[in-house]
Amino acid sequence: MSDFRLGVNVDHVATLRQSRKTRYPDPVTAAMLAELGGADQITIHLREDRRHIQERDLRVMRETVQTRLNLEMAATKDMAKIAYEFKPDMATLVPEKREELTTEGGLDVALHREALREHIRFLKDADIRVSLFIDPEVDQIRAAHKIGADAVELHTGAYCEAKSEPVRRQELSRLVDAAKTCAKIGLPVYAGHGLNLHNVAEVAAILEITEFNIGHSIVAQAVLVGMSEAVREMKNAIRLARAGRVE
Ligand code: PXP
Repeated sequence: MSDFRLGVNVDHVATLRQSRKTRYPDPVTAAMLAELGGADQITIHLREDRRHIQERDLRVMRETVQTRLNLEMAATKDMAKIAYEFKPDMATLVPEKREELTTEGGLDVALHREALREHIRFLKDADIRVSLFIDPEVDQIRAAHKIGADAVELHTGAYCEAKSEPVRRQELSRLVDAAKTCAKIGLPVYAGHGLNLHNVAEVAAILEITEFNIGHSIVAQAVLVGMSEAVREMKNAIRLARAGRVE
């Protein structure tokens, strides 16, 4: 058995569909092919502006996904109602700004502690596990743990986008420290954002991290080599890194 899960985010298949308002390519088909390639989870982000994933995608995937369905969502009343109705296996609460290209930073759990506590309680009452997408900071981890989160997902964007070697090292060590803090307090720890075949190894080698959610790079690779193959390549890269077999 594998010691990690690969969650494949298929949002950008829907981005391509929405760019022409066609019925294709269908993220539901992409999710099926991702599972055939070894995805352990399908991740989708239903954004307030519905720029890619639509409610229909969530409805159909709730019925067709064979592994686990992880719904990324803003912590709003409207989204909580939708999650309650469709019951994904897990909800990942993320900050959402209309103007951003993608999720730009983690949640400020410490600042929004009471509102997030309410959201977590509501979702857990519906038997939905709740993960919080946060920057790799001890204060955020402790706050997430205190308000009842089932897990946290560490934002790997700063590491992936580092422009120099010293910054990259520094960001990697923040991720390592954060993952160790989570392990120490018994909080499951996941990671995602900006990971691709070239930068995944050092993050995948942090053994405390047990789930990786990867979207853009897998969908981009899928355009060239097919979805199942793209997922196989990524799973293999993570597996090798965790076994210490990376040059
Ligand atoms: N995890 C979370 C919480 C995200 O918001 C996103 C982006 O939707 C991802 C992972 C995947 O990021 P990327 O598309 O850069 O792989």
